[in-house]
Parts: sequence; structure tokens; C-alpha cells
Amino acid sequence: MTQNIQIHDRTQDEEGGHLCMSRRQFLLSGGAVVSLAAMPGLAQAAAIKAGYARKKIGKLSALKAGEPVAFNYPFADVRNILVKVGAPAGGGIGPEKDVVAFNQQCTHMGGPLEGTYKAKYQALGPCPLHLTTFDLTRHGMVISGHATESLPQIVLEVQGDDIYATGVMGLIYGYAANTGRA
Ligand code: FES
Repeated sequence: MTQNIQIHDRTQDEEGGHLCMSRRQFLLSGGAVVSLAAMPGLAQAAAIKAGYARKKIGKLSALKAGEPVAFNYPFADVRNILVKVGAPAGGGIGPEKDVVAFNQQCTHMGGPLEGTYKAKYQALGPCPLHLTTFDLTRHGMVISGHATESLPQIVLEVQGDDIYATGVMGLIYGYAANTGRA
């Protein structure tokens, strides 16, 4: 079986040295072109980041630190929050890089995380089913609890004062792929 992997070299800095990229940085960079035909085991990796139609979801000037705003994306039944966490966050946008967005279904068994944001800890949870809590400054990684997967993070862009959702990083609970319901 021929394995065909092409990876663009984006690890060189301007001075010719090598940069060390984390797995998440690498995935966010879009620097990989991977042929999955011969490597079905990588199909899940391909689902990690999915692009969707760009959608305006809010304004920077309207956000108040610690006060999440709900929105649906990429589908009408997918519930998320947009939140200014008040500290630089992974994937954060805005002048302080502190505006992030996450899906609100727990990655363990889909427990509802609405209303559980803790501004003091910049965390979502605990989940009402089995108490998982997620860190919104670190790409939604699990702080504690039963879940083993980070919360899906909504990829954001900012244009002037407008905030746009452009994709999803991570698999939304209940979906076999980020292109539709299982
Ligand atoms: S469904 Fe959230 S911790 Fe189990």
C-alpha cells in the first residue's frame, strides 16, 4: 500500500531557523496536504478542522468580558457561545486576542453546557451530567471530568468591528463528520 503524504514546509522562520509548531498550531496553519485515500486511519484527523460558509456572529464593541453571547453555527441546531474571556486565549481574536467561541455540547455524551460559563476561571462547565469542565483559554481542553476530547472551537475572523465564524475545529457531538448529522 502506497502512503502519500505531502506536507508543505512552514517550519522555516525568516532567518532560516526552525520553528517548533505544536500539533494544534500545525492544524490551524492549514499547512498540511494529506492524501487520505490510502490512509483511512487519518480520516478522523481530517475532521478536526472543517470550513463552513462565513457567517457574521457579532461585534467586538458589543462584547463585555465574562458575558457569553449565544449563537448557532454552522447549522441551526448547533449551539455555541462567543465570549470575551479577558485574557489571551488560543485562537482568540480582537486587540487582546481574548475573544473565542465554542460549541456548547459536552464531548463526553453531549451534555448541555448552556449557562455554565465561569468567568472567574475562564471555563465552561461543569457539565450537568458527569461534571466535565473545559478551559476556554486553551482551545477548550478538558480541565477535569469524564470527557477526553476538547470542546469544538469555532474558528473566528475579525473585520473591523465585525466578528465572523468561518469553521469548526473539532468534531461536534453527534456528528460523524463536521459536514452533517450522522
Ligand atoms: S456528558 Fe458531559 S461529562 Fe458526561
